[in-house]
Amino acid sequence: MSSIPSKPQSKFFPAMKTPMLPKGTFKGKVALVTGGGTGLGKGMALMLSSLGASVAILGRRANVLEKTASELSSSTGNRVLALSCDVRDSDAVKTTIDKIESDIGLPTVVINNAAGNFVSPAERLSPNAWKTIVDIVLNGSANITLDLGKRLIKAGQGGSFLAITTTYTFRGSGFVASSAAAKSGVENMNRSLASEWGRYGIRLNCIAPGPIQTEGAFSRLDPTGRFTNNMLDKLPIGRLGEVEEIANLASFMLSDYASWMTGETVVLDGGELPFAAGEFNQFINTTNEEWDFLEKTIRESNAKQKKK
Ligand code: HXC
Ligand code: NAP
Repeated sequence: MSSIPSKPQSKFFPAMKTPMLPKGTFKGKVALVTGGGTGLGKGMALMLSSLGASVAILGRRANVLEKTASELSSSTGNRVLALSCDVRDSDAVKTTIDKIESDIGLPTVVINNAAGNFVSPAERLSPNAWKTIVDIVLNGSANITLDLGKRLIKAGQGGSFLAITTTYTFRGSGFVASSAAAKSGVENMNRSLASEWGRYGIRLNCIAPGPIQTEGAFSRLDPTGRFTNNMLDKLPIGRLGEVEEIANLASFMLSDYASWMTGETVVLDGGELPFAAGEFNQFINTTNEEWDFLEKTIRESNAKQKKK
């Protein structure tokens, strides 16, 4: 995967990749990251592990998970448990969490990161295509959250949940309707449970990231690379996000430094969302010569209208 060149202004906005929280912030804690074998999930698992947590990573592909787990544990020295589990299957989720609990303890730090997605006009989606995305994203997150939530409540232990959503939960997006519907559902699930479960010491939040180049996302959302270069025009910061930037925000939101935050969705997107909301932001690539011409035309028409 070749990396996408940044715009010149990005030199003002370096991506800070080292952990911002103090060493040992998650020492003694058990974390669970779904989709932790690749992409953002792998980056967040690494950050939590480097901050002291024992981490369980879940996904469907055992070989991918095993490879990541041994990479992470040899880099941080902390325990990383790889478990193959399809989050759509509530029985498998239960068995997997049983195993985590007996091997490394009950997770109190939880990231619902696993997702399925692909671009497609909605009229080309079969019922099963729609169901597949909603099952992974929404029902998968619910399976993990409900199972662990019940265990934490029963154990009288607090916990902190985070879900990775997307910026199109705010206004929707064409060609990813099933993902948009499911991710909005996840945000509302977390907001709703934040209201219910504060009394049990449980917080739930979301991060809505903008574009970050991962193989899993970009191969399914821009398979030919046709749209990726235009993407930078919509990011005032002038570059894509980096996995470690999400991992730092995630670590903060899951830690006690954010213990007053619940039911929140934090957008981290290089300014894409506000840019998309500005009706006239498309003028961004207008040259000075074009502005000279536009200004002259506007002034001439002002003068004409004054004379009427
Ligand atoms: C139309 C499609 C399709 C496509 C699959 N289907 N791909 N329909 N266009 N491109 C249909 C299939 O025909 C089938 O329906 C149904 O979807 C399920 O397909 P399977 O291949 O059987 O499903 P499965 O093996 O479970 O794989 C799930 C998957 C796959 C979602 C299709 O892509 C996957 O494993 N994804 C996991 C990782 C991922 O998606 N990462 C990207 C996350 S990025 P029928 O009717 O034929 O049975 C993200 C946000 C990015 O979420 C935001 C960026 C800014
Ligand atoms: P990714 O590498 O494809 O991550 C998705 C992960 O989910 C994979 O590790 C995959 O592993 C796992 N997964 C998929 N279906 C699963 C299932 N049924 N059960 C268990 N695990 C499953 O893509 P990514 O870019 O890192 O995405 C991570 C998260 O960030 C997703 O929630 C995505 O929506 C979100 N996001 C990404 C971007 C971006 O630009 N990259 C932007 C906004 C939001 P297996 O295939 O082995 O199961």
